[in-house]
Amino acid sequence: MKPIEELKTEHRAIETSLKILGAICDRVEEENLLASPEHIDGLIEFFSVFADRCHHSKEETQLFPALEARGVERENGPIGVMLTEHEAGRAFVRDMAVSMGQFREGNTEALMRLVHNARSYIDLLANHIQKEDNVLFPMANDRISDEEAIRMAAEFDRIEKEKIGEGRHEEFHSMLERLGEFYVRA
Ligand SMILES: [Fe+2]
Ligand SMILES: [Fe+2]
Repeated sequence: MKPIEELKTEHRAIETSLKILGAICDRVEEENLLASPEHIDGLIEFFSVFADRCHHSKEETQLFPALEARGVERENGPIGVMLTEHEAGRAFVRDMAVSMGQFREGNTEALMRLVHNARSYIDLLANHIQKEDNVLFPMANDRISDEEAIRMAAEFDRIEKEKIGEGRHEEFHSMLERLGEFYVRA
């Protein structure tokens, strides 16, 4: 797959995960309880491994440097904004994990903090994906040569194996499929 197409496909999976997270937040607010904490654990794992460690690594170590080398600005420019948003996303995921720990220890207020951080994460990432799909990726398609795209695709394969490992990608997709069935299409 072409590298930009690959990133876009990953965006669709991330959007699905955000929809599921939003639906879980709705239920928590309606029922004032978290019926299946393991579903949130699975999503947190997806956000940190698939979205951050893998997808954001591909962008940060390959795509952004390639764009910077072709004149797209980092400081005060689109790349700087994307990097700041990746960092903000990491903080929200860390906070969600902390809230889950507190919830398990019996702290009931932790649930509302979890929902608050989850909603902030959903807004941040949904907007971030829009900007990349509609602004940054078209810029990349205009500027990156076929040769560079082939090199980048090979680097993406390497990152995929290193950061996620064989078979894990499929596991994440089937988890999203399962949770999507349960929360979104129900
Ligand atoms: Fe990004
Ligand atoms: Fe992205």
